Amino acid sequence: MRPLQVVLIALAASLLVSLAVVAIQSSTNRRDQHPVAARTTDSAAASAAGGGYLPDLGEFMVRAQIHHQKLYSAGNAANWKLAQFELDELREALTEAGKYHDRWKDLPFRLSSMIPSMMTGALQGCEESIRTADKATFVRSFDAIASSCNSCHLTAGRSFIVIQTPSASAFPNQQFTPGEK
Ligand code: HEC
Repeated sequence: MRPLQVVLIALAASLLVSLAVVAIQSSTNRRDQHPVAARTTDSAAASAAGGGYLPDLGEFMVRAQIHHQKLYSAGNAANWKLAQFELDELREALTEAGKYHDRWKDLPFRLSSMIPSMMTGALQGCEESIRTADKATFVRSFDAIASSCNSCHLTAGRSFIVIQTPSASAFPNQQFTPGEK
């Protein structure tokens, strides 16, 4: 072998070695800095800490408020099928408020018994008007629902949260008149 060949072979070999080193280093860096890998570790740590999400009482109440509004829009349009659906949703939101916030701040009563004792009569009256498709009774029973909501707000020191019969639909993107697509 001539000296020039030896030098060229040695150069090629050292080039290969340095390329290999660079490749290994950059793949290690990618693993360390990969954003998805980092996020996966964080969310695993978060779920290990046991953090399920529990909406606070006000959020259950806003849910009740939405169904209260939709119940009115449906009943006012004599859309009894939708009205019954919204009434069930309203009941469910209130029941879950009591279930998940049975003890709320320093109130001396349990919400799981307070809510049904304050709301059941008014909700049943409304359900009866839906069953008999009686709009005049529906409108009257609807006022009774708002009064029951407000009695509890008063009892809970939230008398400034006043529920009333809606003056218009808050959901222009939903049809409340009867008729299915
Ligand atoms: C058991 C008593 C109780 C009943 C029954 C009740 N509420 Fe409430 N509501 C509360 C309390 C307590 C708060 C205050 C929650 C807070 O401060 O986080 C509240 C808050 C609210 C709020 C304010 C939420 C906000 O963040 O803007 C609305 C709206 C509301 N209620 C609607 C209703 C409607 C509609 C009904 C009846 C269909 C109803 N509530 C029945 C106890 C009640």
